[in-house]
Amino acid sequence: METRELGKSGISLGVIGVGCWAMGGAFWGPADDQASVQAIQRSLDLGANFVDTAPFYGIGRSEEVVGRAIKGRREQVILATKFGLTWNEKGNLSGHDSSRKRILQEIDDSLRRLDVDCIDLYQAHWPDENTSIEEIITTMVELQQQGKIRAIGVSNYSVEQMKESMKYCQLDSIQPPYNMFQRDIEQEILPFCRENNIGVVSYGPMYQGLLTGKFFLTDQRPSDPLRSQHHELQGEKFDINRDTILKLKEIADARGKPLPQLAINWVLAQPGITVAICGARNSQQAEQNIAAAEWSLDKRELDKIEEILAERTQRLSALE
Ligand SMILES: NC(=O)c1ccc[n+]([C@@H]2O[C@H](COP(=O)([O-])OP(=O)(O)OC[C@H]3O[C@@H](n4cnc5c(N)ncnc54)[C@H](OP(=O)(O)O)[C@@H]3O)[C@@H](O)[C@H]2O)c1
Repeated sequence: METRELGKSGISLGVIGVGCWAMGGAFWGPADDQASVQAIQRSLDLGANFVDTAPFYGIGRSEEVVGRAIKGRREQVILATKFGLTWNEKGNLSGHDSSRKRILQEIDDSLRRLDVDCIDLYQAHWPDENTSIEEIITTMVELQQQGKIRAIGVSNYSVEQMKESMKYCQLDSIQPPYNMFQRDIEQEILPFCRENNIGVVSYGPMYQGLLTGKFFLTDQRPSDPLRSQHHELQGEKFDINRDTILKLKEIADARGKPLPQLAINWVLAQPGITVAICGARNSQQAEQNIAAAEWSLDKRELDKIEEILAERTQRLSALE
């Protein structure tokens, strides 16, 4: 698998990352731990090395599953997790807490659940308006000096928040959402990361599975709490998105490739992207996603996709 450097960290990542959010169950509906372990192990067998999880994903469940999956093959894995979300007794999000006290507790919990001595990439999951960036980042630097973490990353931060972070550390990466339908980072974040050599480990290349086409081109609809009311699947938006997906599928079909791979490869073709973190629930999905690394979109295909997406944007703006 092609590898790319994570900013200035000296860490090399396979371009297809393994995302472990859905493996926590909860918002994603039921998860099968055995299938999750197999998805991670199959990904590693096929050459992936980057595995991304978080304590919030199933309130520790995803991290424990990752720990089981990588047991005995730690040296093959670049392991990423996060801190800074809090939850209530039902496992629902209750807020953000990236205070020094919370980080010091979370790192030890994550190391225990993952059953490792060191996290390769530790990330602030979301901004926390109650804690200064100085406090957050200096605590991460402290963990780095103690050898509990290697690289320092943030997720869902703005450019301003990244600039503030960079006063206190070498910022190695940001983890933002990015896919054909969610392109906000092209405005400021991607140019800033390119200029400053910061890794971009982007998440949701298939837009939580929507860009695989299954909810638009078949009768299948998501029943999980996360996606069942998804705004992209409602009313006239649904029709516009279905038309777009049909046109994208023509490009994938002409190449003889599945639509999920087209979605992943579109992300990887954008300048400044280090990794596309792809969620997978089982080894079949993992295999299909990893196989995206075997081909890439050419200029003609990328131009055609751009036209299709521009038409979608135009039709959506007419709805407003
Ligand atoms: N930092 C953050 O705030 C943040 C936020 C979101 C995600 N992330 C990270 O990024 C990762 C990926 O994002 P994501 O999981 O939201 O979105 P995604 O990768 O775009 O979509 C993943 C989902 O799509 C479906 N899928 C995957 N491969 C498929 C295939 N080949 N064919 C058909 N369906 C397929 C699966 O769900 P079904 O089978 O149920 O359809 C899977 O759970 C997460 O796991 C997490 O590690 C981070």
